[in-house]
Amino acid sequence: MYAKTLPARPAVVLGIESSCDDTAAAVVRDGQLLSTVISSQHVHAQFGGVVPELASRAHQRQIVPIVDESLSKAGVGRSDLAGIAVTYGPGLAGSLLVGLSFGKAYAFGLDLPLIGINHLEGHVYSVFLGDNPPEFPFLCLIVSGGHTQIVHVDDRFEHRVLGSTRDDAAGEAFDKVAKLLELGYPGGPAIDRIAKDGDPDFYDFPRSRPGAYDFSFSGLKTSVLYYLNSFSKDERSDLLASHLPDVCASFQQAVVDVLIDAVKRAIAETNVRHLAIVGGVSANSVLRRDAAALAHQLGISLYIPDPIHCMDNAAMIAMTGYFKLNAGVTSSLTLTAQPSLSL
Ligand code: KG4
Ligand code: ZN
Repeated sequence: MYAKTLPARPAVVLGIESSCDDTAAAVVRDGQLLSTVISSQHVHAQFGGVVPELASRAHQRQIVPIVDESLSKAGVGRSDLAGIAVTYGPGLAGSLLVGLSFGKAYAFGLDLPLIGINHLEGHVYSVFLGDNPPEFPFLCLIVSGGHTQIVHVDDRFEHRVLGSTRDDAAGEAFDKVAKLLELGYPGGPAIDRIAKDGDPDFYDFPRSRPGAYDFSFSGLKTSVLYYLNSFSKDERSDLLASHLPDVCASFQQAVVDVLIDAVKRAIAETNVRHLAIVGGVSANSVLRRDAAALAHQLGISLYIPDPIHCMDNAAMIAMTGYFKLNAGVTSSLTLTAQPSLSL
């Protein structure tokens, strides 16, 4: 990253996101979101997970129409743009390459600064898309399909990772358990919906916490598998016919308890008074409910983005890009995709 002179015109930033299976573009002007467009790829549902080759091909088909649509919905033209913000990692290499190469070509062709964005940083700064964002410092729980981390955000672009998952991410656990229950992909929204009619105390799945702020969800997923395998084929069909919502609710509560417990500890030890929860799993209704109860109990402020901004989106990339452009932080056109980029 290197500093460039700030543009004199209003800062209209185009954001592009293609790290996994959503092709997205958004436009932010002077910190205000003007448009956000997402094309989700449904082709993966039949495979029970994202197929990287299919994802990058779909990005190639979608990227131009999605960017055009975001500009037209925002009512701006290419000549209005002041910078191109694009996710360069972490994510699937082939998927990242489509968005990044497109973003670089767009920036080069329009002679605009390129602003490479860390997808995880994008999730953190998604809190600035809504009203009443948290004040610095704040604690940020990132819960997505690929990551589960607690981060102490000291100031803009200054943060410390307090803990991470040692194996599966929370969203990955939702997706894998949904696959075991044959609920399709992505599994989180399906489990959330079905669990609404279930009893979270039906079965006591384990709550594993391997370290102060670290997480582990693979044991929980395996315990659901062992639980299901403890029944004969017929018994299992009967169980799922009559108790699927109870199994979903019990699993979901185990995930949420672990997340809330870690956040509670982090708040007690850091004394931070503002909490944000971001990423796809932050759309979960029970996590939102229990986090609100915790915030109320501790007298802290809680910020969770609107569900549309919890999932992968380009609004968060455009907003982070806007902040970076304002700070004079831009990227070289030699920027490469970094699938394992960390926060
Ligand atoms: O942030 P995101 O869109 O993509 C990544 O960066 O990974 O998160 C996707 C993850 C998936 O694992 C999906 O199952 C999960 O978020 N998810 C949910 C819910 N909505 C999406 N998990 C639990 N409850 C939900 N309502
Ligand atoms: Zn994400």
